[in-house]
Amino acid sequence: MTAEARWLAGLEERARERLAPAVLEYLLQGARDSVTTGEAVDAWRSVRFRPRVLHDVTHVDPGVTLLGRRSELPFGVAPTTLQRAVHPEGELAMATATAEAGGVMVVSSNAGTSFADIAATGVRWWLQAYLPADRTLAEPMLDRAVAAGAEAVVLTVDTPVVGTKYASPDVPVVWTTVDPDLLRSNFDEGYDDQPGAEKALDLGPHDIGWLAARTGLPVVVKGVLRAEDAERSVQAGAAAVWVSNHGGRQLDRAAATASCLPDVVAAVGGRAQVYVDGGIRTGLDVLAALALGADAVFLGRLPLLALVEGAPGVASVHRELLAQTVDALRLAGCRAATDARNLL
Ligand SMILES: Cc1cc2nc3c(=O)[nH]c(=O)nc-3n(C[C@H](O)[C@H](O)[C@H](O)COP(=O)(O)O)c2cc1C
Repeated sequence: MTAEARWLAGLEERARERLAPAVLEYLLQGARDSVTTGEAVDAWRSVRFRPRVLHDVTHVDPGVTLLGRRSELPFGVAPTTLQRAVHPEGELAMATATAEAGGVMVVSSNAGTSFADIAATGVRWWLQAYLPADRTLAEPMLDRAVAAGAEAVVLTVDTPVVGTKYASPDVPVVWTTVDPDLLRSNFDEGYDDQPGAEKALDLGPHDIGWLAARTGLPVVVKGVLRAEDAERSVQAGAAAVWVSNHGGRQLDRAAATASCLPDVVAAVGGRAQVYVDGGIRTGLDVLAALALGADAVFLGRLPLLALVEGAPGVASVHRELLAQTVDALRLAGCRAATDARNLL
């Protein structure tokens, strides 16, 4: 392994040395028996390529178009809660490194940093939202995101309830150890205590149209694993669907995203963009996702673990993963990320 690849592969081990046990467990845990979390990485590794040859790969362009705008990276940062528990600069460090790399960051609605401060880093960012039972309670937070320049809203649809995690008996639950100020900085004071603030159990396609109308932004539907749900999302006005099982943190034994992606692409590809996340750890995984038809991939735990080392850690993830992706594209005979389609 090169020193850089070793650095990337060693993120979890180094985070283990530096993070409080409760925070580390929060980052790594999956729902229930972690079957889905455990299968994600291997699902990408089992994809096999038929590389093209006799193509000029002197210049390789790994950039992609995300919702009509170019991203220098074929991967973006997925929304994750508690970034400030990983590093005091939290979302600001994540945003600064992602802005420098020319990528897109999706900001969790649970973020512990104000949207305006994140936007001030110059990062191109999208808001991730969960909708509450009483939709009107989400409006002030949505308005703040729009005012701070969010370019899209990512509606997470796989979380009618939060998936049960089995905590290790000797590690305290993270919520009992972290400062509440590290969470939900963009909601009104006392938000969680209001009736109707619990997560919506009745989310439907109409919420996609409602969100688009309320914010005036394109809506990305995150947490789709089935072709017909992708179709329903697009018919309801989604600009993109995001194939995700929430990193295995919701329904345990949900299928690997690598195996769901082709059906979703077949159903809505060309009419809407298709993104994917879950278990992406190397440039070869990025190539596999592009080959299976994704327009871009998103990274959850990888930049989050790198955030232990602050903005320079996240910058190194972007740099090394991009270098690995360019290498993989070149070896596969692709001059651009978009050439990676149908390499199987
Ligand atoms: C610690 C942690 C917190 C997360 N928080 C959120 C969140 O607030 N909103 C959301 O839509 N997804 C959340 N996710 C899911 C990620 O956006 C993403 O779907 C998943 O992490 C991708 O898998 P990966 O970690 O293997 O890359 C979280 C994931 C992790 C690991």
